Amino acid sequence: MKHTKVRDLLNSTTTLQEVNAKGWVRTFRNNQFIALNDGSTINNIQCVVDFENTPEETLKRITTGASVSVIGTLVESKGAGQKYEIQVNKLEILGDSDAEKFPMQPKKHSLEFLRENAHLRVRTNAFGAIMRVRSVLSYAVHKYFQDKGFVYVNTPIITGADAEGAGEMFQVTSLPLDNLPKNEEGNIDFKQDFFGKHTNLTVSGQLEGETFAMALGQIYTFGPTFRAENSNTSRHLAEFWMIEPEVAFNDLDDNMDLAEDFIQYVIKYALDNCKDDLAFLEGRLLEEEKSKPQADRSEMSLLEKLNFVLENNFKRVSYTEAIDILRDSTPNKKKKFSYLINEWGADLQSEHERYLVEKHFKCPVILYDYPANIKAFYMRLNDNTEPGRETVRAMDILFPGIGEIVGGSEREERYDVLVQKMEALGIDKEELYWYLDTRRFGSATHAGFGLGFERLVLFVTGMTNIRDVIPFPRTPGSAEF
Ligand code: 4AD
Ligand code: MG
Repeated sequence: MKHTKVRDLLNSTTTLQEVNAKGWVRTFRNNQFIALNDGSTINNIQCVVDFENTPEETLKRITTGASVSVIGTLVESKGAGQKYEIQVNKLEILGDSDAEKFPMQPKKHSLEFLRENAHLRVRTNAFGAIMRVRSVLSYAVHKYFQDKGFVYVNTPIITGADAEGAGEMFQVTSLPLDNLPKNEEGNIDFKQDFFGKHTNLTVSGQLEGETFAMALGQIYTFGPTFRAENSNTSRHLAEFWMIEPEVAFNDLDDNMDLAEDFIQYVIKYALDNCKDDLAFLEGRLLEEEKSKPQADRSEMSLLEKLNFVLENNFKRVSYTEAIDILRDSTPNKKKKFSYLINEWGADLQSEHERYLVEKHFKCPVILYDYPANIKAFYMRLNDNTEPGRETVRAMDILFPGIGEIVGGSEREERYDVLVQKMEALGIDKEELYWYLDTRRFGSATHAGFGLGFERLVLFVTGMTNIRDVIPFPRTPGSAEF
């Protein structure tokens, strides 16, 4: 007999004579009621065991965490909270779970404890919900771009390029670390390395993505990226997933329109397709907020926050306007910011981004036209900028509670201007000859952005630490599992 998913059983339109369900025991009450979960939904199905006719030995083995198979009748439930339950005729223990030793006890665990048990935390309601929402969101990402005719490109994980020019790379080598070959100058001889050159894990697929956009028109990547930045924050991972669309003939305004439409689409998709999970996560957040002082509590519930983003346009503000707002802000005047904003050209810290989004505008914000010298080399220099105050066609999207969720730009399509910029920054033109070729042969205006997938999942699930929205987080000092 084939087993049926708990979700399908709970959504059944009739009672059924004989059904088989398989899953893991969440709780076993009164020697009679099993709350069974199989991961297909946040909801458990109640299985009512005929304890009088079940051997004591078997009853003892129905413990939290054990996997079981039940065969029985799907009947209307007399208990509150569920439409159907299974009246069990036959029960088989598939895998025992020692109740004393199973770490996921049926009680509230701290998120820190759950992180240390990331291989088991997915058996809890919260992590089951988060991971299902994550899966649906990644489907929505593909659906959005595929429906619009974008081509999905798999850019390389191992590369010689530093796309962001920030030098935050994990090196890839097969050289023996305890006996590195040296060249005549006494430096490591990467000619003897696996690829015959120095390589690293990609920090972004953008540069390769641009070459494809300059042939296929509209492309997107969706893959893992790696950053060896020593940022031990609740917003940074050393391994995270990024979505990077790139579109030929788009300028910065088109790029902002695309990013806004895309983000609203995927959030709407999650709202429509993850109702039970989001309802659970909304409740979880409400509970968590209760332990905070009134002033720190969010004014909106999770679903209100998500709907707010759908119903309101993102506010578009230039960097220069943002600096004026920040300079005149109360926390700046009262010296409450760790980094005070005194003059144009200052890089914005997350405290400034959050002030703009959460206190000043109270909605998602797109900041654009940043100073050239705080942004990456490939961004297009604005025409008509004052000498000493050069700006580039960059955009960052800032979200409440998250800060930067998207970074993007119109690209520098002029060969000479790009070469000049690379020379000024000491970026290796030989290494990136292939990137420069896009500007030598049929160059055109184009633009794109990168959305940090985990930051999106954070926002949609209402979680506050990025380590809780990726299955197995990699952060400084931690690569368990
Ligand atoms: O702003 P970033 O560095 O931009 C790029 O990598 C460009 N190549 C994107 C493009 O134009 N195609 O990163 C893009 C986004 C950030 O806005 C943030 O959401 C996320 O990636 N991100 C991180 N997420 C988690 N952990 C980290 N360490 C992250 N670094 C960036
Ligand atoms: Mg950025």
